Amino acid sequence: MKIAVIGTGYVGLATAAGLAEFGHTVVGADKDAAKIADICRGKTPIYEPGLDEIVTKNISAGKLAFTADVDKTIRDADVIFVCVGTPQDENGRADMSQIEDVSRTIARNLNGYKVVVEKSTVPVKTSDWIKRIITLYRKDETPFDVASNPEFLREGAAVSDFLNPDRIIIGVESEKAREMMVRIYAGFSDRIMVTNIDTAELIKHASNSFLAMKISYINMIADLCDKTHADVEQVALGMGLDPRIGRQFLKAGLGYGGSCFPKDVKALMNIGGDLGVNMGLLHETDKINRERIGRFLEKIRKALWILKGKKIAVLGLAFKPQTDDIREASSAVIIGHLVREGALLRLYDPKAMDNMKAVFPESPGIAYCEDACQAAEDANALLVVTEWEEFRSLDLARVKKNMANPILIDGRNLYDPAAVRAQGFEYYSIGRK
Ligand code: UGA
Repeated sequence: MKIAVIGTGYVGLATAAGLAEFGHTVVGADKDAAKIADICRGKTPIYEPGLDEIVTKNISAGKLAFTADVDKTIRDADVIFVCVGTPQDENGRADMSQIEDVSRTIARNLNGYKVVVEKSTVPVKTSDWIKRIITLYRKDETPFDVASNPEFLREGAAVSDFLNPDRIIIGVESEKAREMMVRIYAGFSDRIMVTNIDTAELIKHASNSFLAMKISYINMIADLCDKTHADVEQVALGMGLDPRIGRQFLKAGLGYGGSCFPKDVKALMNIGGDLGVNMGLLHETDKINRERIGRFLEKIRKALWILKGKKIAVLGLAFKPQTDDIREASSAVIIGHLVREGALLRLYDPKAMDNMKAVFPESPGIAYCEDACQAAEDANALLVVTEWEEFRSLDLARVKKNMANPILIDGRNLYDPAAVRAQGFEYYSIGRK
């Protein structure tokens, strides 16, 4: 089977390289020729641990190639994974224009039976549109099938998640498509779940929204802890010890960001709303998440009172550790507020500074620093916004010496309050005393 992967973002690159790693022959295609040229030189456009290595390794082994010739890639393929972006439009719905565009390109190049696989996160019922577009634009009656195979990889762990999936969801409508899709994942027969297409599409949105809801839930509890003597870390642990609840995704903090949860919660909210279903639970999930920044700013004001002219060090800009991605990152919203109030910011992140410079260029109010210690120089307060491992092991005594006032406001509960206070810091965190 020849496999095409259209789109070379996070999901496309991990899918192309991962399928090649499984032993398939894969061509990744993207109409952005400059991006393709970089990837062919072994330079993927994103920071993702292990990705460059498996891309380079499989290109050298002749199992993986990249090209800007999308038409030919489609003509040559038996199975086409569609991995283009489905960003959020101005109404909070998924913008499906790239999916429609690829569907038309597939229709134009349909020269034999092919399975068209939705890998991007799409609203339930998208497959009906893909089928309709390909049927409308194909030149003849050449048959094809659409399948849904949602991806569950996390940024920062994309390669290992793709290579060791918990589950492989395959939504199909024909036996032929089922057989081909199951063959692609032959090494994981114990983890495959085959459903109809609507179900597979919904599993993806329902999973992400559930995880987002879990985060908003614990953040709501954290607010309650802030007003009482309870400790949110211990509440989360006590809850999570019940296997029906589980310990994961109960980390209170600045809320969820990234290219998936904020967008997917809103998309599912809108899909349900359009179909007349009460999606109130997700409206609250989203609202609680947006309110996280306000709560954090309250803590900063409580510590510093007037922000104008105060020097504030910000550690962490990426939406989470192990990535350079700043899409929907809390850092950007926090920085925006602090700059408007006249604070002087000193920013540091191990990987995401170039991306942030494109949003907030260096200016009299914004300096980018070489490391955490430099960011702390002469600062009136230090904020932890992303929980990078290198911040956990920071030499806090040295940091404190650099600061004008030893005030640490930890948005990710990275430090042990007693240990930090013992070093002489005034310490604020989320849902803990
Ligand atoms: C998420 C899902 O975890 C993946 O399964 C899914 O495939 C992916 O979206 C997608 O749809 O493509 P990702 O956005 O990469 O993955 O990152 P997560 O690790 O899930 O974290 C999302 C956000 O939640 C981050 O901002 C993180 O800081 C926050 N978070 C996570 C918390 O605030 N608390 C937690 O306990 C866990």
